[in-house]
Amino acid sequence: MKPAWKVLITARGAQAAGEQAQQLLRDAGCEIIFPPKLGPLMGDELTAALSGMDAVLASLDGYSDAVLSSSAASRLKIIARWGVGYDSVDVSAATRNGIVVTYTPGLLDDAVADYTFALLLALARRVHEVHVTMQRGEWKNAWGDDIAGKTLGIIGLGRIGKAVARRAAGFNMRVLAHTAHPDAANHSVEFVSLEKLLTESDFVSLHAALTPATRGMIGENQLRQMKRTAYLINTGRGALLDEAALVRALKENWIAGAALDVFTTEPLPANTALRSAPNLLLSPHQSSYARGTGERVSLSAAQAIVDLMNGKKPQHVLNPEVFSSAQLRTGVIKHG
Ligand code: DGY
Repeated sequence: MKPAWKVLITARGAQAAGEQAQQLLRDAGCEIIFPPKLGPLMGDELTAALSGMDAVLASLDGYSDAVLSSSAASRLKIIARWGVGYDSVDVSAATRNGIVVTYTPGLLDDAVADYTFALLLALARRVHEVHVTMQRGEWKNAWGDDIAGKTLGIIGLGRIGKAVARRAAGFNMRVLAHTAHPDAANHSVEFVSLEKLLTESDFVSLHAALTPATRGMIGENQLRQMKRTAYLINTGRGALLDEAALVRALKENWIAGAALDVFTTEPLPANTALRSAPNLLLSPHQSSYARGTGERVSLSAAQAIVDLMNGKKPQHVLNPEVFSSAQLRTGVIKHG
């Protein structure tokens, strides 16, 4: 009998909404290991957790070149990302080390788009504020802003951005988009420059992938271009935004408010200025935490691990070139 693979699970989603995924791994003969602290894990904490592991069902842990080239990770054959973003993985370093990297595209678009809209609606109609005053025993209305007829600017029109645009159509909003690959056939949105999007939108929502080109793309200059009545929503990646500039923008009323679900450092440190900035709605990278979605994402990531363990090419591989590399750490790969 083949020795069982040791599978580290750092993804919180695969613990809390991963019953079927864990069953699949166990049925395939894998041994599941949860680290003392769930992800995202960085540096030494991650290296220690990877020691002796064949696979990881991964949170947004920092899979740097140093981590992947370390002796602790020498048995690692696959990083199966729980989610679609893979900015935390040095994919080239994984390929050089013969490690397969997979992700789960298409499974969380609706959940993230729903949550983006939940934040947009709450911000505009101040739901979170009146909830707090009700809890204090008060009965006090808060004037919010209309949504129908307003302009939504979507930065990054990938799968999730498009799902947000579909929802905006239902709310009778005008939709502007700024994206790396505008799709001329898409007539439901108007493709515009970043400057036009920022100056004309009442709501700006960030959905671009985090790359060297998009890191910090919304800084002081961009925030100052937005309307003073506009709101910013970020369910993409924290580092798309200069968080210190946002704190100044909120304190000095350059914009009306913001909602952040993602942060440059996660978990968000307790003492950051973001925690007390005015007109800022915060949540803990919550957008994909819808149970059905969580189960499907967990299962897809677990399936990738089981497939590779059984010598089959997993479905959503980010570095397919690894299969023709002499460094590949698994045996014969059956295609299809
Ligand atoms: C993603 O899909 O990358 C989400 O941020 C969850 O990790």
